[in-house]
Amino acid sequence: MLATRLTQMLGIKYPIVQGGLQWLATAQLASAVSEAGGLGIISSLSFPDQESLRKEIRRMKEKTQKPFGVNLSMLPGLTEGDRTIEMLQVILEEKVPVVETSGRSPEPFIRELKKEGIKLIHKVPSVRFAQKAESIGADAVTVVGFECGGRPGMDDVTSLVLIPKAAESVRIPIIAGGGIADGRGFLAALALGAEGVVMGTRFVATQECPVHPRIKEWFVKARETDTTIIYRSIKNAARVLKNRAAEETLSLEQKEATLAELTAFVSDRTSREAYQKGDVDGAIIGCGQCVGLIREIKSVKEVIDDIIQDAQSVLQKLNSMRAN
Ligand SMILES: Cc1cc2nc3c(=O)[nH]c(=O)nc-3n(C[C@H](O)[C@H](O)[C@H](O)COP(=O)(O)O)c2cc1C
Repeated sequence: MLATRLTQMLGIKYPIVQGGLQWLATAQLASAVSEAGGLGIISSLSFPDQESLRKEIRRMKEKTQKPFGVNLSMLPGLTEGDRTIEMLQVILEEKVPVVETSGRSPEPFIRELKKEGIKLIHKVPSVRFAQKAESIGADAVTVVGFECGGRPGMDDVTSLVLIPKAAESVRIPIIAGGGIADGRGFLAALALGAEGVVMGTRFVATQECPVHPRIKEWFVKARETDTTIIYRSIKNAARVLKNRAAEETLSLEQKEATLAELTAFVSDRTSREAYQKGDVDGAIIGCGQCVGLIREIKSVKEVIDDIIQDAQSVLQKLNSMRAN
């Protein structure tokens, strides 16, 4: 049931990927995911320079012998400086097994990745971008629906429609994201045609996630209605926790604030500090609607084992329905 083209391609036990999570996707979280049988991913943007990323990749290699990835988020103008090329150089030198890209097309450096035998997973929020990813040679494409934490794109299409549409539109393996936090969602994604899932929000509320406990507790208490979409006005929609920072951002957007004004309001540095201090209102915090499905802070291994076990019981239940 669990061997898919994705598990075979990446050499992982379960088709579960931990997506890039800026500030949070460090070796501590990512190695726990890889050790538990999924694919852990380190976020390169969390590191200020090449040497600190290199150190983190080496820390990852010490913590696990299993496959892992590095995320390269390439959102134009939304982060402080574009460090894509610098970070890419470290990824190539360190021969990281998998790269997850997002934000813009990885076409300019796909040849270099292939030359080093690095698998490329490109993350997109729409069918047309999934087709583009396939056409430029991505090995797999992650497709995230409107309910996802992070960047759901501008089309507002939910996973239930987006995943099957993408699965019938490309031949490379699809990794489904957006709204998946348990065994039911995992199995549903496979039923819709995906060969793996990516989860972000669920992994924030884990013991290994390096965020202040107050933020994890908020994820446990929150309902599915506690997220909102910001940055629509600059055509870079982001689903985030509905907190004071998000509400103030929305009111700036209503006043037609420019990109520079918006990024100055909550800088990368302010957000990072708020994550560390547990200031739930002070940071823009990515958060998907599936936050409403999270009931406890578990270890990463418990999250993954429970997903697999629950998916198997749901499958049995479905099979027994067919028999009746
Ligand atoms: C706190 C947080 C930070 C994120 N940061 C990034 C990031 O830096 N780069 C990226 O490509 N995706 C980022 N994402 C998106 C996730 O990798 C993943 O695609 C998404 O969370 C999947 O949807 P889900 O939240 O419903 O599980 C982030 C998500 C969250 C919740």
